[in-house]
Amino acid sequence: MLSGNVSDPGITRGNWLMSLPPMRDAPPAGIDRLDGECYIADTVSVMRYGAPNPERGIHLGVGVMLFDHVRLLLGNPDEHPQAYIRLGNRVIINVGCYVSGEGGLIIEDDVLIGAHTHILSAGHQIHGGDAVIARNPLSYAPVHIGTGAWLGAGSAVLQGVTIGSGAVVGAGSVVTRDVPAFAIVVGNPSRIKGFRKGHAANNGRFLTTLLRIGIERFFK
Ligand SMILES: CC(C)(COP(=O)(O)OP(=O)(O)OC[C@H]1O[C@@H](n2cnc3c(N)ncnc32)[C@H](O)[C@@H]1OP(=O)(O)O)[C@@H](O)C(=O)NCCC(=O)NCCS
Repeated sequence: MLSGNVSDPGITRGNWLMSLPPMRDAPPAGIDRLDGECYIADTVSVMRYGAPNPERGIHLGVGVMLFDHVRLLLGNPDEHPQAYIRLGNRVIINVGCYVSGEGGLIIEDDVLIGAHTHILSAGHQIHGGDAVIARNPLSYAPVHIGTGAWLGAGSAVLQGVTIGSGAVVGAGSVVTRDVPAFAIVVGNPSRIKGFRKGHAANNGRFLTTLLRIGIERFFK
């Protein structure tokens, strides 16, 4: 739960987006459940197999917006029960994003995702096995993005990462480790460059976070 400027849950989408046609109240092919008033561009594609499953599968909250050429990936949740995508209310995913829920993906309410961002909850095992990576089994780990976070354009979030509420990921950053609430991270690999000013979740945590980062780096 975001403890800073909590957005009004009664507003399903910002006024600046109200004119976008058309809103959907029924899920298109491949999406298991849609809570209403979503905008899904015609070029959005879904890669999933298996039977529809409104309890798991792909679930879009109220007012979700998926712009052109967004790709949602799930694989086959019948064979891989860890696979799911859950997008909270008013999540906005800009053009050309690659959104993998093969390892499990939760994006909480009011998250804004910039163009051409990659969210990767699965990869290939690289050690042992076959020398040809493509023949090795997939590895999976869930990604969780907290309420009101912003992923800048062209960023990438790797499997197993949790991004805290209200955090900011700079454009082009590659996020390999968890990001605390309201932190600003930039670079490849991304590092904390500060915290958003004026947000309660930051109070008292800055020094603790710096200490933790120092300890992590010392023992790396
Ligand atoms: C992360 C961001 C919000 C930071 O904004 P800011 O606090 O005003 O940052 P500044 O411009 O003051 O830069 C501060 C430092 O961080 C660095 N920096 C900022 N953004 C960076 C990025 N994306 N990658 C790497 N370094 C970055 C700057 O070079 C600067 O470094 P320095 O202190 O060594 O000179 C912004 O730079 C950004 O990436 N915005 C994303 C824009 C976007 O994706 N828009 C799409 C719309 S959805």
